[in-house]
Amino acid sequence: MILVTGGTGLVGTHLLFHLLRKGLSVRAIYRADSRLDKVEEIFSFYSKKPNEYFNKIDWVEADINDIPSLEAAFKGITKVYHCAAYISFDPADFNRLQKVNEEGTVNIVNLCIARKIEKLCYVSSIAAIGRSLEGAIATEDNEWNDGKVNVYAITKHMAEMEVWRASQEGVPVVIVNPGVILGPGFWQKGSGSFFRIAAKGSRFYPPGGTGFVTVNDVVHIMVQLMDSDISGQRFIVIDKNLRYKEVLSNIAREFGKPTPKIQLKFWQLNLFSRLDWLRCKLTGKRRKLTRKNVYSLRHPEIYSNKKVTETLNFEFQLMAEAIYFSCNRFKEAYPEKFI
Ligand SMILES: NC(=O)c1ccc[n+]([C@@H]2O[C@H](COP(=O)([O-])OP(=O)(O)OC[C@H]3O[C@@H](n4cnc5c(N)ncnc54)[C@H](OP(=O)(O)O)[C@@H]3O)[C@@H](O)[C@H]2O)c1
Repeated sequence: MILVTGGTGLVGTHLLFHLLRKGLSVRAIYRADSRLDKVEEIFSFYSKKPNEYFNKIDWVEADINDIPSLEAAFKGITKVYHCAAYISFDPADFNRLQKVNEEGTVNIVNLCIARKIEKLCYVSSIAAIGRSLEGAIATEDNEWNDGKVNVYAITKHMAEMEVWRASQEGVPVVIVNPGVILGPGFWQKGSGSFFRIAAKGSRFYPPGGTGFVTVNDVVHIMVQLMDSDISGQRFIVIDKNLRYKEVLSNIAREFGKPTPKIQLKFWQLNLFSRLDWLRCKLTGKRRKLTRKNVYSLRHPEIYSNKKVTETLNFEFQLMAEAIYFSCNRFKEAYPEKFI
């Protein structure tokens, strides 16, 4: 049986659906506050009988930071997809990021070693690919460098180190390093913000860009890697390197909203970052724009997907079609924004 962590998130829900459609037996972990209804909602985007798929999942309540519950979830498991993580770029969240991303992965890795798991797939991020020298294209061989990276990236890098430990201990592993993952359903967090901003018809866009990929391409690649003989390797998973303006404009056009026209200047972003710091100090709320985010916008990376496309002979889904699909799901979720 296959174990999926993070099965209630963007990647995990899509992965579960893909595995179930292949007829595989799947166990997924959830926590007391997890939105299991979200899983069925995502399935309903792809099937007329979402509950039939949902009911096939063996749900076990477990937290990756709680070893006894995790031990129970590992009973009878042969393969593990580790997608669970905490995503935040706020330096104030560093302890929680370490706890979930690093310590949680230590626990997963220890159980994979102890239970002699056949293969582990870890979902890392392009954030854990070391920065390139100015202008160079980033590849899987980039060296890690702690300088100028955000707190999330540090903990994803540390988690990768743990996964390499599993590999050293004889567990076959593959790591995927996706770029920004576009997909439907999780509008209030992560890449959902691109849809929210575009739906407002915002006139502004940030400078720079990054690697983007659609969620279904990410899970197809994960499953192909797990089904192959490949192990002990990591793969950058991006379809295209795009400017933020391009992504926001493509989504805005699907929504029939104005496309953004005014690029935010770096001094404006620096100013917003300081105001954001002050807002957090006064209200205790989370940071939205840190100095390191502004640095990334000023020094965007270009990522290579050569390794994954050539190794798997992989053809990415048309991104325009995936954006069209997600936009339609967004419109169904928020019809009032399109009256
Ligand atoms: N989204 C992106 O653009 C992107 C890009 C690159 C890489 N990634 C990586 O892809 C993976 C999946 O991301 P996502 O976008 O699907 O994230 P997500 O939607 O935020 O989902 C996170 C998942 O992790 C689970 N989780 C968090 N803490 C946990 C804990 N202590 N114990 C058990 N489960 C826990 C959550 O469960 P609850 O529902 O209970 O909270 C949820 O299922 C992550 O490793 C992320 O770093 C994401």
